Amino acid sequence: MDLTTDYLGMNLRTPLIVAASPLSEKIDDIKRMEDAGASAIVLYSLFEEQITHDRFELDFYLTHGTESFAEALTYFPEPAEFNIGPEGYLSHIRRAKETVNIPIIASLNGTSSGGWTRYAREMQQAGADALELNIYYIPTDLDLPGSAVEQTYLDILEMVKSQVTIPVSVKLSPYFSNMGQYGETA
Ligand SMILES: Cc1cc2nc3c(=O)[nH]c(=O)nc-3n(C[C@H](O)[C@H](O)[C@H](O)COP(=O)(O)O)c2cc1C
Repeated sequence: MDLTTDYLGMNLRTPLIVAASPLSEKIDDIKRMEDAGASAIVLYSLFEEQITHDRFELDFYLTHGTESFAEALTYFPEPAEFNIGPEGYLSHIRRAKETVNIPIIASLNGTSSGGWTRYAREMQQAGADALELNIYYIPTDLDLPGSAVEQTYLDILEMVKSQVTIPVSVKLSPYFSNMGQYGETA
C-alpha cells in the first residue's frame, strides 16, 4: 500500500511522524524510531528560556571577577565549564542527520518575539529539514486583549520565517482562540 504523503513540502514514506518528546533525546532512539517506521522526527524542543538563560550565564562567567585582580584572565573558566544548551541542541541535530535518512524537524519553543529566534537560522545551518514552533503563551495581564495574543504568535512566526528558508510549522493548542476565524485572517 502506498502511504507516501507530503508534509511541509517534504515527501514522506508514511504519515507517521514522531512528535516532540524525550524519545528524541538519544541518537540511538532516533535510529530505532527510523527503523520502526517513523517517516520524520520532531526533536524535543529547545526552549526560549534555555537560550536566554545560557546567554546570561555566559555573560556572567565572562565578566565575573574580571576586575578583581590584574591577572584577571586566569579567572576565565575553561570553555568546558560553560553550559551552552543551544550549542548542544545544534550538535544533536547534526548527529541525528548523520545517523538517519528521514527528515529531522527541529523544535523551538518560545513565547516572545525576541533575539532568541536567531537560533532558527542556526538550526537550519545544523541541518534541520524543517522547524516546528511550539508557541505557548499564557497571558497574565488582565488588560491584554486576545487579539494581541494572537498577534504575538504571528510576530514570532514572522521573525522566525525571516531567519530561515526551510519550512516552518506552528504547533497550536486545539483550544487556541477562534481557530476558524484566525485561519482566515492570519
Ligand atoms: C513527556 C512529553 C514531553 C514532550 N515534550 C515536548 C516538547 O519538548 N516540545 C513539544 O512541542 N511538545 C512536547 N510534547 C507534546 C507532544 O509532542 C504532543 O504534542 C502531545 O503529547 C500531544 O500528542 P498526543 O495527543 O498524541 O499525546 C511532549 C509530550 C510529552 C508526553
